[in-house]
Amino acid sequence: MTTRMKYSLKNKWVLITGASSGFGAAAARAFAAEGAKLLLGARRIDRLEKVAARAVKAGAAAAHFHELDVSSTASVKTFMAWVKTKIGRRKSAAGNLHVLVNNAGGAHGLDSVAAGKDADWETTLQTNVLGLLRVTRAALPLMPPDAGASILNIGSIAGRTAYAGAAAYCAAKAGELAVTRVLRHELLGTGIRVGTIDPGLAETEFSVVRFKGDKKKADDVYAGMNPLTAEDIAEIMVWVASRPPHVNIDEILVKPTDQAEMGKVFRRPVK
Ligand SMILES: NC(=O)c1ccc[n+]([C@@H]2O[C@H](COP(=O)([O-])OP(=O)(O)OC[C@H]3O[C@@H](n4cnc5c(N)ncnc54)[C@H](OP(=O)(O)O)[C@@H]3O)[C@@H](O)[C@H]2O)c1
Repeated sequence: MTTRMKYSLKNKWVLITGASSGFGAAAARAFAAEGAKLLLGARRIDRLEKVAARAVKAGAAAAHFHELDVSSTASVKTFMAWVKTKIGRRKSAAGNLHVLVNNAGGAHGLDSVAAGKDADWETTLQTNVLGLLRVTRAALPLMPPDAGASILNIGSIAGRTAYAGAAAYCAAKAGELAVTRVLRHELLGTGIRVGTIDPGLAETEFSVVRFKGDKKKADDVYAGMNPLTAEDIAEIMVWVASRPPHVNIDEILVKPTDQAEMGKVFRRPVK
């Protein structure tokens, strides 16, 4: 029998990767406002500490953080061992991790394939695809098989289209989409939900990272248009995770109103 009760996130453990800035930090605040218990991971611990403190003020039932580099299997193992100490175990041996947000990632450089750099390609694929696989593999045994748990993967419009200079990033996010679809098959019957949220232009630290600290280049990406905010995406994450357990939101493509396609953006004159 299907019951239409919203899935309550109150006192549920929510693990967010890449929680030190952008979507991840906003997600921490948004899940906190639902009374969730947070497990936050990223490489910048000083940032995580601030995000956790803000989350507690926003209503989190708990907010813990630990260093995490998703591009390292050893780091993911250490992080998940720490997660286990926080969430405890159920009698059924499954854990109590109710929501996994695979958000850590980003783009590195905007070079053509002809001018591409190994380090940029490797970091892009390591974090967005292999990192997601590593974290998910380690987290799945900790997720309860009863209906309601969710895995939210953060993809991108880049995984659904192509633009010059983004070969590795487009490949990585197309990979993320493929992994999400595969998981949907593999998790069928477990009650664990999985889906992807794929944003268009959103103003976070994304472009600063892509352009290796060049703030002017980063600002130009959003010049004269109204981009999405991290809060817009966090709100969607909470909405997806709190649908009734029989509802799986498979794929969401969300763009600013000012963006019709990857390279088709409405810009007002900048004064
Ligand atoms: N902003 C956009 O326009 C946009 C659009 C579509 C999709 N996305 C995707 O959204 C996700 C979040 O990006 P954002 O926009 O919020 O950018 P952001 O502000 O740069 O945040 C990226 C987060 O990922 C973390 N991260 C990066 N590499 C990591 C690693 N190896 N291990 C652990 N954490 C790592 C960063 O933390 P540390 O540096 O502290 O480790 C940071 O918390 C990414 O997957 C990105 O590809 C962004």
